[in-house]
Amino acid sequence: MPESRVLVFVGPLLITAAVLQLLMAAKTHSRIGGVLGHTALPEDISINAREYSQHIQGSPKPVRQNSSYPKEPFISGTVPSGFLWGTSTAAYQVEGGWNTGGKGESIWDHWAHQPGRTPLGDTACDSYHKYATDVQLGANLAMTAYRFSISWPRLLPDGTLAGGVNQAGVDYYNKLIDELIAHKMVPFVTMYHWDLPQALQTKYGGWTNASMVDYFNDYATLCFQKFGDRVKRWATFNEPWSFIVPGYGLGVSPPQMLFGMKRRQYEVAHVVIKAHARAWHTYNDSFRAQQGGEVGIVLGALWGQPRNTSDPRDVQAADNFEQFFLGWFANPIYGNGDYPDAMKQMINGDSVADPRLPVFTEAEKAYVRGSADFVGLNQYSAVLIYASDHTFPLDFISLVMPDLKGVKDTSDPTWPHGASSGFSAHYVVPWNIREQLRYFSEKYSHKVPFYITETGISEKEQFPPNMNDTWRQCFYMLYVDEAIRAIKLDGRDVRGFFAWTLMDNIEWGSGHSVRLGLHYTNFSDPNLTRTPKASAKLYRDIATSGGFPEGAPHTKHTQDWWDWCHTNAPYNNDTEIGAGHYRGPH
Ligand code: BGC
Repeated sequence: MPESRVLVFVGPLLITAAVLQLLMAAKTHSRIGGVLGHTALPEDISINAREYSQHIQGSPKPVRQNSSYPKEPFISGTVPSGFLWGTSTAAYQVEGGWNTGGKGESIWDHWAHQPGRTPLGDTACDSYHKYATDVQLGANLAMTAYRFSISWPRLLPDGTLAGGVNQAGVDYYNKLIDELIAHKMVPFVTMYHWDLPQALQTKYGGWTNASMVDYFNDYATLCFQKFGDRVKRWATFNEPWSFIVPGYGLGVSPPQMLFGMKRRQYEVAHVVIKAHARAWHTYNDSFRAQQGGEVGIVLGALWGQPRNTSDPRDVQAADNFEQFFLGWFANPIYGNGDYPDAMKQMINGDSVADPRLPVFTEAEKAYVRGSADFVGLNQYSAVLIYASDHTFPLDFISLVMPDLKGVKDTSDPTWPHGASSGFSAHYVVPWNIREQLRYFSEKYSHKVPFYITETGISEKEQFPPNMNDTWRQCFYMLYVDEAIRAIKLDGRDVRGFFAWTLMDNIEWGSGHSVRLGLHYTNFSDPNLTRTPKASAKLYRDIATSGGFPEGAPHTKHTQDWWDWCHTNAPYNNDTEIGAGHYRGPH
């Protein structure tokens, strides 16, 4: 049995919804970047004015220079056969039924039930009851895959085998998986999309406790035993960065453990990486032979483009950014089994006696190295990186990666970005996909296939809703074409593309106010009806034909819209989006 270590820590702290939204949005830079912006003023301008003005004067206009990727021309083409076209969701965001059928409480349920919050996840999209409807929505879109996550506390209410397996939970996922297979959709299952059983948090301090490696392994084993006869693609974790830094470093999202930026978040990541590797080894040793599936991890990928590619300092800064963001997890698993050099150097320096970044033993490195059969990349956007020792402006990196020194981020003013919402600056940078895949392929020696496990674009909630989401059609035209370009021109082994998300759902701390669905969910209707937006039809056309074949009407449509989709017009006009009469470029 795993050892039990009871930790005492500060209970959930009440923070304002705005701060939570801001920092949950910090999952990817694009969103927080829009809030803080590259010209954000330091809070106390009187003290810092000199430094700030020096920065502004010394700072060239933030544009991408000498890039090998100017606006891409459209290319027609299709993906290889067997490619998975899917949509992605996560249990907390869609299931509801938070205490139905024997489910235990998760850290997100716990957070949402604190005074002053509205627990929208209690019902969410009610997929717990409406799973057959959801599968039908996917089938209507001609999807060949569906990525969903299993709620750990629905299977194991207190997180442990000792606490008992919840048969109703097993039944629910069996029904969902069978329904998918009956509709010819591949189930692509994430085991941890952030909804830790609250009991594991309360008793053991969640991922701060090394015994979580054992608890997670028990849970993963149960998943393989119950569902592995039909599920052949498993992701252990979704975006570890996104729950570790806000949850255990900054303390702004569940479990809200504050003041962990200097040490705790690194310790948590160490546990999570080992838990991932352990689950992979369990599968490899005990299940692979009979089940023949794949186990990987889904990483949040935000491409860091050097602001000036002919300035070696910017190039180095961008590489350091990649090492801290993606490489924190990718380097151990897909590289040499260890943390990236930039992290070791900047966090630990010479402090061998008391390193803040934990140290892997040689045996652990060998165990972690190569522990994945694929990598899932959640590839939404990009950021411009430049070298600077200035403290200001206060940017995403200063806020969330204080150990990453000499590196600052900004955006290109020419990049189109999403409609005003919690995502106000969701920059539409399609070439980030190709750049990230190139970087990953060149950097890491463990060669695996890629899945684009998430990408998508938000709009704010509108009344009445605008079902003609031209901005989302543009987004998928550009991003799918970029994936095709990566396959055709660069020879990357991309095996699937998953749109985030099937339907408007609970966007974590932002609730319903930020929407990314291909289907509109009417949360005022007790039936929670889902209605396809215009983007759903386009995505169906893409999936049915495997991309953009020559002569297909949607290929022609994409060509016609191509230039317009590269401008701010489709994404950035709140009035027109809200008024619902925006029809496209013609
Ligand atoms: C997460 C999703 C989230 C999406 C949009 C991704 O990073 O995995 O859960 O809803 O971003 O914010």
